[in-house]
This record gives sequence, C-alpha cells and structure tokens, in this order.
Amino acid sequence: MTKSVDILVVGGGIIGLMSAFYAARSGARVTLAEQHFPGTQEGSSAEHVRMWRTMYNEIEFSEMAFQSGSLYTEIESQAGVKLLHYHGLLNFGSETDYTPEGTLLDPIQTLNSMNKTYKLLDKKEIEKQYPFKNLPDHYVGIFQPDNAVIDVKTTINTAINLCKSHGVNFLSRKKLLKIDNNFSGVKSTFEDGDVIHSRKIILAMGPYTNEVLKPSFDIELNLLFWDMCFSYYRLDGSIENYPMWFQFDKPHNGYSSLFYGFPEVEFARPGFCRIAVDWASHTFSDIAQRYYAPPRIDIEIVRNFVKDHIIGLDSAPVDVGRAVMAHFPDNGCLLDFLPKNFPHYQNVVVCAAGWAFKFAPLFGKICADLALEKNEFKHNISTLSIDRPQRILSKPRLIDIAKFMH
Ligand code: BEZ
Repeated sequence: MTKSVDILVVGGGIIGLMSAFYAARSGARVTLAEQHFPGTQEGSSAEHVRMWRTMYNEIEFSEMAFQSGSLYTEIESQAGVKLLHYHGLLNFGSETDYTPEGTLLDPIQTLNSMNKTYKLLDKKEIEKQYPFKNLPDHYVGIFQPDNAVIDVKTTINTAINLCKSHGVNFLSRKKLLKIDNNFSGVKSTFEDGDVIHSRKIILAMGPYTNEVLKPSFDIELNLLFWDMCFSYYRLDGSIENYPMWFQFDKPHNGYSSLFYGFPEVEFARPGFCRIAVDWASHTFSDIAQRYYAPPRIDIEIVRNFVKDHIIGLDSAPVDVGRAVMAHFPDNGCLLDFLPKNFPHYQNVVVCAAGWAFKFAPLFGKICADLALEKNEFKHNISTLSIDRPQRILSKPRLIDIAKFMH
C-alpha cells in the first residue's frame, strides 16, 4: 500500500497522541503509526501514574511544566475529564550532587523567581505532618502545592478520543523501518512493505528513536535507557495524608537514595501507594537489551527504605511494574527538527527522552506547530535542542562533527 498524508506521526505513546491531536485540530490530514497499539505499554507511557511536577532547578523546565499544566486544564474542560489530581509535592532530604531530579534546594530560587508559594520544613515538621520516621536530623523539606498526580490511562484515552474526533487515522502494528527525506517531503517505509508519503513527519518514538534515525540518517541520539521499576505498598489504614514526594540523599552502599512516592489514587491501585527508586540497576543503550522483568535489587532497596522510614504501610511490595525511560547525559528532553546540516531538516520533527509525560500537551502542540510551520507561536525550544553537546552519539554523515565535540 502507498498513501499520502499531510503529517505522519510515528509513536502511539502520549507525545505522539498529543502531536496527532493538535496537528489534526489545525486541519491537517494526520496518520499515526504505532508498532504496537496506540497507548502502548512498551514505551515510556506505561502504567497508571506520573508526576506533574513543577519544582525544577532550571526555570525553563518549571515554566514548561506550568504551560503544559494550562493545556492539561484546557483538555480537561473540553473533554469533561479529570487528568491532574492535585496533591502538592514534598521534596525532602539533604543536599546532594546533581541528580536526575536536580537538587533539593536549588528549585527554591526557581520558585522565588516565578513568585510561587512553598513551605519549608525541618525534620521534626516533616515527621509530624507526613508519614515518615527515623529521618536524619539535618533533613529539610520543601512543600509546593502546585503539583499533581497525572491519571495516565485517562490522559491516554482522552488523547485517543480527541484524535479520533479530529479524524486522525490510526495504524497499529505498523513498524517504521526507514525514512527518506527530500524537497518534496518524507517517504516512510514500514516493515510490512507499506509506504507513506507525507509533507512532514513527527518522530515521537521515545526509546525507539534510534532504530529509525540510524538507518535513515546515520545518526544516533546519545540515549541511555533505564527500565524503571516500582511497586505498590498496601496502606494499613492508619494514615490518610500521603503526599507525592521525593527524598534526596547521597548514594548509600553504591545504590541511589533518590526515592519517590505517590499518594493513594483511585485510578491506580486503591488501597496502595506506589513507591520506587529513581534509578535503575540495568541500564542499556540498545533497546533490544531490555529485561522487562524488574531486577530484584531495584525492588529490595525500596523495600528497605519503606521499612525504615515510612509509616502506615505494609513493607511487602505488591504489584511490581516497570516503564522504560530514555535519558540524555544532561537529563533533559529533546524536541527539535533534524540537525540543521541535513537538507530539508525541517521536514522531520523529533521528540524523545526525559520525563516528559507532564509536558505532553505542550510538546504535542509544539511538535504539531513545527510540522505545520506555525511560526507565529515562537516556541522557545532552545533548552530542548538537538544541537546541544552530547545529544548526538555517532559521527553524523552530513553534520559538522566538531559542533558536537567538547
Ligand atoms: C518526574 O516527574 O520527573 C519523575 C517522577 C517520578 C520518577 C522520576 C521522575
């Protein structure tokens, strides 16, 4: 089969779905191809909960979170659904080197510059107000109310419905192998032999991005994958006030001490809290090396933390799950065209990496605007640029390599 569309979106996770929705809402003929099914569990959009988190070291990320929050709210009112469940976020612990979540205290500066309210707590106040015990005396906490648990399944289903109501054509079990890009647009060739011609393509393939960039352009993003594991812990009924939280501390016995937890929410596992370490023992740079089954150590260190420091929970992990996560060395996200040295680079929009579910409506809208050449929005995507150092791994054929070297 050969067909032709305005915009082809590849990837049926939340970023691809939001991109397809915004592009179709602007009137484009959009097809979304996904190697599994829209709302796939094989990528970074798996499972029930994500954080809409606004405390960042970098003000650009906090600003993007708030912009994205406004779009979430807009979708909520348009679709008559609730996607963000506000519980606030408690970051507590001690200062550390830069972690995948930034640092404990630097976001204070960001919050001050954005005129956002927050509350500072000492160890005694943390233990009095929240269900933690035996914390070191030097621990401090910051509570910020503008943070929410994202209902992942409802967000995905809403995005699928919005796509459908705006005429997006879904192709499931459709694996993209290669794209050819020239002055007339993009030719995409799929594993089943089908070919789709489009004016523009949006690659929202998360951890699978290199599988297409490499054969198509001989470039590879410098991605490191984590199979992030988490478990649900049963509430014993003695405590009601479980916050959404992150604990910062230095690594212990070689293992990360960056733990996080979600409150009980009825759309995940009623009667349980999801708790995990923001780390993975198994990291890999080829998605084919994924284990799927959670490694025991990733679950064990969390179980010990729960036993030693959290009250109101059974310390037996139940319902262990995982989601694959793609990291850049700078922990950032990527949303850009192909590198500028490629001819017709603006035909290809790439969005990959980072903890981006919270940014999904914003990133989807930006991907769509870039593909639709809607420059009037003047999105500032410099923090997300593909040209930043260390973003590209292998020597690109058509790119000035010196630009990517330190
Ligand atoms: C985040 O929102 O950035 C995040 C939440 C939980 C675990 C890791 C990252």
